[in-house]
Amino acid sequence: MNILVTGGAGYIGSHTLVELYKAGHNVLVVDNLCNSSRESLRRVAKIVGIDEVPFREVDIRDRENLDLLFEENHFDACIHFAGLKAVGESVSMPWEYYDNNIGGTLTLLDVMRKHGCKKLIFSSSATVYGAATEMPIKETCPRGLCTNPYGWTKSMLEQVMEDMAKADREWRIVLLRYFNPVGAHESGLIGEDPNGVPNNLMPYISQVALGKREYLGVFGNDYETVDGTGVRDYIHVMDLAAGHVAALKALDIKDGVKIYNLGTGRGYSVLEMVQAFEQENGVKVPYVIQGRRAGDVAICYSDPSLAQSELGWSAKRGINEMVRDSWRWQQMNPDGYSK
Ligand code: NAD
Ligand code: UD1
Repeated sequence: MNILVTGGAGYIGSHTLVELYKAGHNVLVVDNLCNSSRESLRRVAKIVGIDEVPFREVDIRDRENLDLLFEENHFDACIHFAGLKAVGESVSMPWEYYDNNIGGTLTLLDVMRKHGCKKLIFSSSATVYGAATEMPIKETCPRGLCTNPYGWTKSMLEQVMEDMAKADREWRIVLLRYFNPVGAHESGLIGEDPNGVPNNLMPYISQVALGKREYLGVFGNDYETVDGTGVRDYIHVMDLAAGHVAALKALDIKDGVKIYNLGTGRGYSVLEMVQAFEQENGVKVPYVIQGRRAGDVAICYSDPSLAQSELGWSAKRGINEMVRDSWRWQQMNPDGYSK
């Protein structure tokens, strides 16, 4: 298939490109590089053995250039990763998040339908479940109250897409709700490259192990969990990438909107992650117990069985691969892509 990949220079997008090429798809990446660099695409080209990944530096809010892109190219489907994703930042800059994530996606959807391209895979998040009342979380669990504007953009966009698919039966949309993506491609050439101080656990652990940061702050050890620290469903980014290729097949057979959790179905606590990282990689990760982080839930993990039964997809890599590949990437690229 010919696939438009928005946000393809970013963390999940770049890893998905590798799997798309492996499966024989053609891609064109659009990205405004607000949180990424061309270097990730050069690395993808190296991994898959091509000269370069076709790329246009376009902001998805730029209707004119997006329109031009669709005039010049035929796309069978779009995988839509582009968006802002920092939870804390979204609280202090809500307008920017609604403008970029919602405004950008509305423009993209409009240009897509104008050109008759009505197949879409959208990067959603487990954050849309809010404080879920069931564990593990199934897709039938209703969307809940989000604790931040970033979460609301995902929740609202899911609603927009459901309504559009109801009104126009030609749309085929897959909403993928990611749990906690971690890890990197096994080559160590591409990985997660957060700006400044990482918000998420795995990049923070990696930077502590490297000595860039003194210690990990563990946000609370008084939750009702195995050791009091928060439990999450970490999923290797290459498994997540493979989930997109599997979802492309579903676009051919399913009508309307389909929702799938992409997780492993297994939760690990913060301290279990630290321990796994230390043991697998033979490094120390000093930590200090701190207070709870506002907005955090105690436990969150998926029931991924729907993706297994309908997409034939399941996560293959375990915790050891996740921590090993994160560490390899961090060691080989102490300053990320140096963007
Ligand atoms: P990322 O920041 O690495 O990648 C997003 C990419 O989109 C970046 O390359 C950025 O430059 C680009 N972008 C942002 N706004 C744009 C715009 N207006 N026009 C064009 N390009 C734009 O993030 P990621 O971790 O790869 O996440 C990809 C998607 O998955 C996002 O939509 C994110 O919200 C979602 N998601 C991520 C996680 C996670 O933990 N990483 C979890 C759940 C959902
Ligand atoms: C966060 C976002 C969520 C987003 C997800 C993936 C919040 C409230 N939620 O989820 O919307 O979809 O990232 O990008 O930010 N932890 C520490 N110390 C740290 C960092 C994290 O103890 O320095 C703990 C957290 O309290 C949590 C676990 O590690 O228990 C995972 O945290 P994180 O990686 O930030 O992911 P989530 O909070 O699950």
